[in-house]
Amino acid sequence: MSKPDNSNADDFVQRYGGIYEHSPWVAREAAADAADCDSLECIAELMADCVDNASTERRLTLIRAHPDLAGRAQIAGELTPDSIEEQARAGLTQCTAEEYKRFQDLNDRYLQKFGFPFVMAVRDSSRAEILAAFELRLANDPRVEFETALTEIHKIARLRLQAMQAKETEK
Ligand code: GUN
Repeated sequence: MSKPDNSNADDFVQRYGGIYEHSPWVAREAAADAADCDSLECIAELMADCVDNASTERRLTLIRAHPDLAGRAQIAGELTPDSIEEQARAGLTQCTAEEYKRFQDLNDRYLQKFGFPFVMAVRDSSRAEILAAFELRLANDPRVEFETALTEIHKIARLRLQAMQAKETEK
């Protein structure tokens, strides 16, 4: 990362507040220890630690902050810029009517079983890979799936940090 100054907490939250979907509290908490962090790896670990040390309720709220993949919010154009890019790169904005129906059915079944949405770091996956993972994960135990969702959320955060760094290097 091109050595941003991480010693000002407000600037840190401004910069990294969107790395965890709709959850700027992660950046706010990480900011307290970020002054000496000058690498992507350091920032990623600091933010991941804040999530891992949060209460179960807060982690559940974080998972629930994610929109469905190829879901109603995507169709209605109500996603965050990061989520739009991730879903578009995975081809989820170009589903056929039949694929949208399949995603809707899977999203509904998943939410019904686990009480939170299916989260997967889809940026570099194809629609077929996502659908296959969706079917597999639907069979998981809820405790396993809770941890899997958080692991995927940490992957999404890293990919967002990498994308941020790549965009800044382009400038
Ligand atoms: N994976 C990458 N972005 C997203 C998102 O916005 N929602 C879900 N559910 N998974 C994602």
